[in-house]
Amino acid sequence: MFKVKPLEPDRLPALLRLMPKAELHMHIEGSLEPELVFALAQRNGLVVPYPDVAALRSAYVFDDLQSFLDIYHAGTLVLRTEQDFYDMAHAYLARAAADRVLHAEIFFDTQTHTGHGVSADVVISGLHRACVDARAEFGISTGLILCFLRHLSEHEAFECLEQVLPQRDLLLGVGLASSEFGHPPEKFARVFARARALGFRLVAHAGEEGPPEYIWSALDVLKVERIDHGVQAVKDTALMARLARERIPLTVCPLSNLKLRVFPTLQQHSVRQMLEAGIVATLNSDDPAYFGGYVNENFTQTFKALGLTAQHAWQLASNSFEASFIDDARKRHYLERLQACFETFD
Ligand code: HPA
Ligand code: ZN
Repeated sequence: MFKVKPLEPDRLPALLRLMPKAELHMHIEGSLEPELVFALAQRNGLVVPYPDVAALRSAYVFDDLQSFLDIYHAGTLVLRTEQDFYDMAHAYLARAAADRVLHAEIFFDTQTHTGHGVSADVVISGLHRACVDARAEFGISTGLILCFLRHLSEHEAFECLEQVLPQRDLLLGVGLASSEFGHPPEKFARVFARARALGFRLVAHAGEEGPPEYIWSALDVLKVERIDHGVQAVKDTALMARLARERIPLTVCPLSNLKLRVFPTLQQHSVRQMLEAGIVATLNSDDPAYFGGYVNENFTQTFKALGLTAQHAWQLASNSFEASFIDDARKRHYLERLQACFETFD
C-alpha cells in the first residue's frame, strides 16, 4: 500500500479536489440540473409544472428512494431529442472533468424514455456523441451502463435489452436500478444471464434500502462484478467478510444516502467502517443535480463528517480505478498519476 505523508487537516479539501479519480455510480438523468430542465422544456415546447428554477430546486426534498424516483422520472420528461441527451451528458462530463474525474462509468436507462415515446437509439446516440466529444475536449474516458428498471417486469427488461442490441458496441455493461423493496435481484436472473452471454459487464444496485440478502443474490444469482450502494452490508458480518476477501467493490454515494435518509446524518455513514474492514469502497455522486453535489462534494463533506485522512483519500481514489472496468495497463497509468499527485502535493 502506498504510504501517504501526513497532511494538515485544512489542506485535505484541496487534495480531495485535485486528486485523480474515477466515478462509477452516477445516473446521467440525475445530472439534469433545474436550469437545463427549463432550457430543454422551452426548446421542446413543454411546460414544467414549477414556476421557476428556484421553485423546482426547492422541491428536491425526499423522504426515501421512492419519493426521489417520482421527481427524478418527472424531470426526464423534458428529454426528447438526441441533442437533449448530448447536452445533458456533455454538461456532466465537463463538470466531472473539473472534479478531476479521469474516467466515468455512466448509468442511463432507456425504459423511462421509451415509456414516453423516445427511442433507445436516440438516447444512446446522444450520450455516445457526448462521450466522444468529452474525450477530445477534456481527456475524460467513459463507459455507458444500461440500467434495467426493477419495478418493471422481467419481460420488459428483455424487450429493453433487445432494443439496445443494434448499439451493443457502444455499451459497456448492464445494471439494475429504481425501487428496491419488493424487487429482489433474482427477478432478473434470466436477463442478466443473457446480458452476460452477450459480453456485457454486470453491476446492480443492492442494499441501498433493501436487505443484505439482496446483495448476496446480486452476487450469486445475477453474478454481478460490483455492487452499487451496498451500504446495508454492515448488518451482515459474513457478507462484509466476503466482500473484503473477494475484493468485490461497492460504489457508495454518501450524499444520496443522506438525502434519501438511508443514514440520518453523514456522521453515521458506514463508509469508514467499510474501508477499515478492507472493502473496496468508492465514493460517487449517484444523482448530483438532486442530492446536493458532484463527486468532489461527496468527498469533502464525507471526509469532514467522518474525520477521514489523506490515507483514506488515497485508498478511495485507488479503489475507484481498481473497481473500474478499464484494462490493467490503463489502471496502472491512472494509479501512477494518482501517486504523482500525492507525491507533489504540499
Ligand atoms: N437507487 C435506485 N435507482 C436509482 C437511483 C438510486 O439511488 N438513482 C437513480 N435511479
Ligand atoms: Zn444509483
